[in-house]
Amino acid sequence: MSSLITELNKLSCLENVATELCAKMQLSNPRECSPFVKCNDAVIELLIENTKLKHRLAIINQAISAEKESVLKININSALLITEHLENIFSQAIGLAYPAFSQIPVIIAAVNNVASKYGDYQCNNAMGLAKKMKETGINITPREIAVNIQRCCPASPIIEKIEVAGAGFVNVFLSKKYAVDALTNMLRVGISPPSVPKKRVLVDFSSPNIAKQMHVGHLRSTIIGESICRLLEFLQHDVIRINHLGDWGTQFGMLIAHLEDRFPHFLTESPPIGDLQAFYKESKKRFDDDDDFKKRAYNHVVTLQAGDEKSIKAWQLICDVSRQEFKKIYNRLDVTIKERGESFYQSRMLSIVEFLQRKDLLELDDGRKIMWPNVKKSGIPLTIVKSDGGFTYDTSDMAAIRHRIEEELANWLIYVVDSGQSTHFNSIFEAAERCGIVNLNMHRIDHVQFGVVLGEDGKKFKTRSGDTVKLSDLLDEGMKYSLKQLQQRGRDQILSPKELSDAQEAIAYGCIKYADLCHNRISDYVFSFDKMLDDRGNTAVYLLYTYTRICSIARSSGEDFTNLSKILDTFNLLLEHEKEWKLAKTLLKLYDIIMKCSNGLYLHFLCEYCFEVCTAFTEFYDSCYCIEKDKSGRIIKVHHSRILICEVTAAVLRKCFYILGLNPVAKM
Ligand code: ARG
Repeated sequence: MSSLITELNKLSCLENVATELCAKMQLSNPRECSPFVKCNDAVIELLIENTKLKHRLAIINQAISAEKESVLKININSALLITEHLENIFSQAIGLAYPAFSQIPVIIAAVNNVASKYGDYQCNNAMGLAKKMKETGINITPREIAVNIQRCCPASPIIEKIEVAGAGFVNVFLSKKYAVDALTNMLRVGISPPSVPKKRVLVDFSSPNIAKQMHVGHLRSTIIGESICRLLEFLQHDVIRINHLGDWGTQFGMLIAHLEDRFPHFLTESPPIGDLQAFYKESKKRFDDDDDFKKRAYNHVVTLQAGDEKSIKAWQLICDVSRQEFKKIYNRLDVTIKERGESFYQSRMLSIVEFLQRKDLLELDDGRKIMWPNVKKSGIPLTIVKSDGGFTYDTSDMAAIRHRIEEELANWLIYVVDSGQSTHFNSIFEAAERCGIVNLNMHRIDHVQFGVVLGEDGKKFKTRSGDTVKLSDLLDEGMKYSLKQLQQRGRDQILSPKELSDAQEAIAYGCIKYADLCHNRISDYVFSFDKMLDDRGNTAVYLLYTYTRICSIARSSGEDFTNLSKILDTFNLLLEHEKEWKLAKTLLKLYDIIMKCSNGLYLHFLCEYCFEVCTAFTEFYDSCYCIEKDKSGRIIKVHHSRILICEVTAAVLRKCFYILGLNPVAKM
């Protein structure tokens, strides 16, 4: 149909030409003037053509109104992406109204002031279209365009009405009936994921280094990575969680040499290396001071990489000590991850060198074998083989990316690593494309970078003595703070010991994770327990408290709200009060927010959303009675519909909390 309209537009221009010609000749009928026979013929032809077109136009207009009447169908049982649905509607409408511009991206914005007369969503294309048309010589006001777009919108069950306002805004008002159905469905079947094309995603996150302390940078990667995995798993992608441990490299030579000296019986007895950090420092000192030791250390690197049994055993012992430490942190933070350290790629590093050599991509440079990431040879080259024959961080990442694409068959790679490594990753990605491992038409690759953690003094986060902060100490401190807060509220008097310790953990770990996730990850953030534990504002504590409050409402009704489907058979969820309606519309944004998060891999949108839900809930709860009591505290009326609203709010929050790694407790 759009091609018909294009044709029609073209020809109606010709009609104008014909009429203009007649006017110039001052004729009402072109046949009257013989000296202009040649011209007349052309004009007559046009006029005849024009009559035909008028007929066609009538047919097209009929078809347009038929299409307009067609209702865009939705499936109320599945998660509806409202923005995407509206994009479809307006893309259809723009295509119908202005076929020449049918390809322009549709701009849909959620209206934040939910109670406004400007509707709940806006289509903001009219201004841009007016400008574009002006460029092609057509003068039409944005408002006229908006009206035309509005006229061409197909009907949709989610839309109550569409209005044009101001200079050219097209405002969409959501349908209450749709909202009731959608929320009821969430209560009956739970929060199901919106459907998206499935990918096999490999998420490389946490990735600390053996024998070195896991620092706050690794904490950020662990927290962000875990949440990204949960988000993508919710969207039903096939997610592989990988811990790219730094468990290979020259530092192991000195660690092994030191182990040999300190615990000569290590092959038969497990040595008590309590503090691997101290052990590392000692060996480093010897390495720097003692040439003999240094030689032995280098020798061990060679024997280890050659797979010598004794060296491997020593290396395993050392890795195990670190592993135990990491595991404790992961358990505390509820993180699931599969270890696949750099050592895993040893054989694959040998083959990547061969692979690159075969493709003639390695160049000799001062004894090193380097690879330029691109043909232009701009940026920094990768060092694939060092002059001593050893491999580097570049080599292991090239081997890893190849393994991930060719053996794991992942089509989406995510690296959650601090911004400081962005040059490294850009080079790796470019090089992988250059040598044909990666094809960006088939593979999506993201370096999910993040800023540094700052202390309250605005400088890099350090202990008072200037050391890097030990993660386990940080978590311990969080536990202390959260217990103190619970005690200040007198909760230790009310909660059972189990409830108290559950609440303590939920707050401590929740606030650390949330403080990290709620900022745009690219920026640095200031680590402050006082701020994290503030119960006002956008903090985990505020969200968790609001959640427990919501849970307590159904409990205090004296009725059993565990079987929601059964309750829904008797009571409907109603959206009558303005604040009920506002909360409902906020809840329905969930799926759009989830998509926004997964598109750019940003979790702060989800945090902002949780805060918005809690705020809308508080407004609702302040103005709408859920349970009415008399003076003596006896329940006189239970508003079932409102308790259903509380329950669906809790369900939405639970889903978000899960993705953010917050562990909600029913009592706090
Ligand atoms: N172990 C590295 C570090 O601590 C991070 C590894 C990130 N992953 C990767 N594939 N390079 O800096």
